[in-house]
Amino acid sequence: MQTFNIAVIAGDGIGREVIPEAKRVLESVSTRHGVNFRFTDFDWGADYYFQNERMCPPDFLGQLRPSDAILLGAVGHPRIPDHVTLNGLLLPIRRNFDQYVNVRPAILYPGVQSPLALRRGEQIDMVVVRENTEGEYSQVGGFVYHEQPEEVAIQTSVFTRRGTERVIRYAFELARQRNRKRRVTSVTKSNAQGFTMVLWDRTFALVASEYPDCETESLLVDAAAMNFIRRPESFDVVVGSNLFGDILSDISAIIVGSMGLAASANLDPSRRFPSMFEPVHGSGPDIAGKGVANPMATIMSVGMMLQHLGLYEAAKNIESAVASVLAGGSARTPDLGGTNRTSEVTDAVVQKLTL
Ligand SMILES: NC(=O)c1ccc[n+]([C@@H]2O[C@H](COP(=O)([O-])OP(=O)(O)OC[C@H]3O[C@@H](n4cnc5c(N)ncnc54)[C@H](O)[C@@H]3O)[C@@H](O)[C@H]2O)c1
Repeated sequence: MQTFNIAVIAGDGIGREVIPEAKRVLESVSTRHGVNFRFTDFDWGADYYFQNERMCPPDFLGQLRPSDAILLGAVGHPRIPDHVTLNGLLLPIRRNFDQYVNVRPAILYPGVQSPLALRRGEQIDMVVVRENTEGEYSQVGGFVYHEQPEEVAIQTSVFTRRGTERVIRYAFELARQRNRKRRVTSVTKSNAQGFTMVLWDRTFALVASEYPDCETESLLVDAAAMNFIRRPESFDVVVGSNLFGDILSDISAIIVGSMGLAASANLDPSRRFPSMFEPVHGSGPDIAGKGVANPMATIMSVGMMLQHLGLYEAAKNIESAVASVLAGGSARTPDLGGTNRTSEVTDAVVQKLTL
């Protein structure tokens, strides 16, 4: 039987509630599809920080490296500054494992109400492709006169031609593979940021010329934010920098119903390193411990993981089961207007696994 080694970091808050549910779905898929998942759990995150003053041990990358994939819940705790949790675990994994593409699909499933008043029959089915290793999140900078009245802070964005080109190319390949509108929208702010974003625009035009079968559009990020609300049905694949992709994918997540439905994949397409799969949402401190977090974002992230591992039938099975539960309306957590608990939603998904 084929065996996959999955490194699991549940993390903090609702991350610890949704990860066991996703593992339950994987266990069910495993018997149905004749594959074996060997989980290795890592207790890294806020509690580890309170004991060790760091989010994870120094050799954390070495411990994760042998796995076939990494499954992550969320990190973040109200008593730890967010830049510590993010830079102490998540961002180094993305950077060091060269997970340069962050794929964030946003699909409005039948049975789910968008907060937008869409015109009849209008569909939202888009993917935000976010550059995931450089740009505004490169962590280059520093303080001068630290914590003095005359303090200065400098933070530099780093955009490389290689980094920009490879993520844009991924977006075009994805548009071909999805074969829907074959439309790639590039998002920048090159009117105000005349170096990094101009490099991005030029690179986009160059790569686009290799894909004559794809329609292209270039938007400034403020216009893109507006158009995600005004004409969400027009988008297919949207590609942007680390910061812009991060912000826009929260908009795309909420217009398809809930943060609790937004899945994501941090991919190293070259497959030199393990890729990482996680819900878009954070640790949800406002609902943590109540047992009402929607597990679907994590379950669908697991679906993306199976797709990446080449288990296409199993991935399809999970996506169809989630879509079927959403369409039937039988089990819903409060974020979708229901009264069900996290585990009841997972039960409903497991029951709908057909193969
Ligand atoms: N990838 C990550 O680990 C990640 C991502 C974003 C935020 N964070 C961290 O998480 C903490 C909280 O951040 P935040 O409040 O801005 O974002 P959040 O995503 O945790 O929560 C935003 C809102 O969405 C709701 N929500 C999120 N996931 C949900 C789910 N599965 N089901 C139902 N409702 C859900 C929350 O209740 C909250 O009202 C912070 O410490 C932040 O740094 C981590």
